[in-house]
Amino acid sequence: MFKVTLRLDPEALFVSGAMSQSRLGTVLVGGGSGFIGTSLTAQLRKRGYDVMIVSRKPGPYRMTWSELSQSGLPKNTTAVVGLSGQNVLDPLRRWTPGFRQNVWASRVNSTRSLAEVISAAPVKPNVFVSISGVGFYEPSETAEYTEESAGGEADYMGRLCTAWEEAARGVEDAGVRSVIIRSGVVLGRHGGMIQQIFMPFYLGLGGPIGSGRQFFPWIHIDDIVSLFIFAIENPEVSGVLNGVAPQPVTNGEFSAALAGALHRPAVIPLPAAAVRLAFGETRARMMVEGQRVLPRRPLQLGFQYRYPDIESACREVARLRYTPVKPY
Ligand SMILES: NC(=O)c1ccc[n+]([C@@H]2O[C@H](COP(=O)([O-])OP(=O)(O)OC[C@H]3O[C@@H](n4cnc5c(N)ncnc54)[C@H](OP(=O)(O)O)[C@@H]3O)[C@@H](O)[C@H]2O)c1
Repeated sequence: MFKVTLRLDPEALFVSGAMSQSRLGTVLVGGGSGFIGTSLTAQLRKRGYDVMIVSRKPGPYRMTWSELSQSGLPKNTTAVVGLSGQNVLDPLRRWTPGFRQNVWASRVNSTRSLAEVISAAPVKPNVFVSISGVGFYEPSETAEYTEESAGGEADYMGRLCTAWEEAARGVEDAGVRSVIIRSGVVLGRHGGMIQQIFMPFYLGLGGPIGSGRQFFPWIHIDDIVSLFIFAIENPEVSGVLNGVAPQPVTNGEFSAALAGALHRPAVIPLPAAAVRLAFGETRARMMVEGQRVLPRRPLQLGFQYRYPDIESACREVARLRYTPVKPY
């Protein structure tokens, strides 16, 4: 005798929007399929949130940008996060007007779309947390920047960050809390810059970029993810937070720490002229120049870093074998 059991799959119901599972609600993450987004969405799920990603590609637990603009926020959305952005330092893409337009629109337009949908929602989420970059501050070997420092107009990256952040602040008129995280270079084994430079450093071919004296604002992936969750869960947090570790280092110090963690030398510099040739002047500036950025507000607000110093962060990312974070 066969026994037939009728079982309702709650996940399928959630995907179809028929039911929300989590008491904590849904976090909607624009660009949640990328390097930072994959780690963030995994942590949010672990904490008990439902997560929906806004992506250019459809799929389970995803909605496309046009679905978002047509149907608005998913039911029970408690927080929205903006992480979209075409990779500026893609070595395979030339710095053409078309590529520049992609870089700009993938950040500013996507952030504006999220802000507009939030503002139009009959039931508002508690918070919109949007990423931006330390490129907001003018590169300098002497200045020291906190969240209160002026910036946002010195060069292409500064202007891009200004437009990006203005788009995110659009929700404030609708009474929604807005947090902007100006992130430094995110260090993680499974993506971003480390993935690009791991092999040369592992083979003992790594070294500083240019003079190595330029500042290198950085943060470990676990800490940037925790900072997003800190911003989502603490109602008193609003405005700009510098998403950097409390220990500022130069590019030379970072290279030495990464090479040291791999038990390799860091003696082969990447000449600034080669970077300019490969990436063009505007993008090369992001690599051969830097900013000394301090996380004054995260520290004042009591945020705790797991990797406050470059040595511990590099030891964590210097593993040859690692388990990739599963995309959501
Ligand atoms: N990683 C860092 O070190 C760092 C530092 C400072 C700031 N940030 C900023 O943080 C954000 C996330 O960084 P990440 O390293 O996680 O980025 P990522 O992995 O390169 O990409 C994030 C997501 O952006 C979407 N995207 C890419 N190109 C796009 C385009 N042309 N139009 C629309 N969407 C596009 C993609 O989502 P779909 O393919 O699903 O559409 C992608 O998964 C970016 O805006 C980046 O600029 C990153």
